[in-house]
Amino acid sequence: MSEHTTGPVDRILAANQGAPRAALIPLLQEIQDLEGYLSQESISRIGRHLGLSAAKVYGVATFYNQFRFAPRGRYHFMLCRGTACHVKGSRRLLEAVTRALGIQPGETSRDRVFSLEVVACMGACGLAPALAVNGEMHARVTPLKLSRIIDACRAGEVGHVQA
Ligand code: FES
Repeated sequence: MSEHTTGPVDRILAANQGAPRAALIPLLQEIQDLEGYLSQESISRIGRHLGLSAAKVYGVATFYNQFRFAPRGRYHFMLCRGTACHVKGSRRLLEAVTRALGIQPGETSRDRVFSLEVVACMGACGLAPALAVNGEMHARVTPLKLSRIIDACRAGEVGHVQA
């Protein structure tokens, strides 16, 4: 961990000097927005800044679904497990996606190409079961459609490497 770096995180912390503990959640949100996830270093620094242990900060952060503790992959899959999507087969989809990507919800593949997040409802229940990839919504996803989406992502990755 670097104690002496200066950068955007330092600026966020400096802007919240003397911030009360109630500022913990907004601070976590701001740093996640900046870095895409909450690293161990960021958690420790926020803790020191607010006078809280890193364990306390981590404990609070894990209570909320919105926080991630690993960087997102190039393709971030958000699979809905809300009621409407559940009724339409999202459980089967979750099994298929974890098998195909080799990761569990909240994880990022080692090559950082894929990451997976499970959410409660994306507000698109009419599209159930719904899957968003980098914010783009896919409706009525079947395991076959899912495998085509994954293939398309992989093809995009190949194109990126060749570019
Ligand atoms: S339950 Fe899946 S979008 Fe609402």
